[in-house]
Amino acid sequence: MSNASTIVILTGAGISAESGVATFRAADGLWEGHRIEDVAAPEGFARNPALVHQFYNLRRGGLKTVQPNAAHEALARLQRDFPGEVVLITQNVDDLHERGGSSSVIHMHGELHKVRCTACTVVREWETDLDETMACEGCHTVGTLRPDIVWFGEVPYEMDTIESALTRAKLFVAIGTSGHVYPAAGFVRIAQMSGAVTVEVNNAETEVSFAFNKRMTGPATEQVPKLVDWMLSGKS
Ligand code: OAD
Repeated sequence: MSNASTIVILTGAGISAESGVATFRAADGLWEGHRIEDVAAPEGFARNPALVHQFYNLRRGGLKTVQPNAAHEALARLQRDFPGEVVLITQNVDDLHERGGSSSVIHMHGELHKVRCTACTVVREWETDLDETMACEGCHTVGTLRPDIVWFGEVPYEMDTIESALTRAKLFVAIGTSGHVYPAAGFVRIAQMSGAVTVEVNNAETEVSFAFNKRMTGPATEQVPKLVDWMLSGKS
């Protein structure tokens, strides 16, 4: 990796698993007890906003009880110490990258700590519980605030920035993501077509493992610090 290189990192639920945040598709996954269509789709929100608010209120509240782990911290170290460009993209809606020390994070699926008004489209920071009786501070409409989470059928955030970063990447790393959900699952292909070396870090084989040049198998808290040491060592 030269000083002018671009590294693109994509993270998923697996990087936060050892912090105690449940992944989506594990047996004890986030969706347990709820159909995805009920809690992660605009139609579900229209049908039962109280249920959806309660679901995300629990997740938002739960962030207070978890801490960033060695993998989040290693990526912050990479962003700080790598002389080239490090673009960190996460599918996670938690704030553990930021609390682990990362300053620039693309939350392509939104953030638990933000709400959006469906009437005036303004996005605001939000720390507490949200419900359908609340009014938007901007346009004063009642019942139009929703979690700023990208639900199924909606377009992820910052896709232009992401695609442009993928096309200049020399190295693309996917950490703790199952490769089930597009467009993120297709990033490895875009990076590879642009000439990047691709590395997957996961504690299990995924839907898209075959597409990577190299795989590091094991828990993110062990593998990511090792990988960061290598990226900062300047050795190929
Ligand atoms: P998943 O729950 O689908 O996958 C988590 C991945 O992390 C799996 O491949 C696990 O093998 C791996 N994993 C678990 N623990 C790990 C550990 N300690 N170290 C390394 N790997 C580990 O989560 P995502 O791929 O992030 O979208 O899911 C993608 C999207 O699907 C989410 O952002 C969410 C969901 O629907 C929205 O909410 C829009």
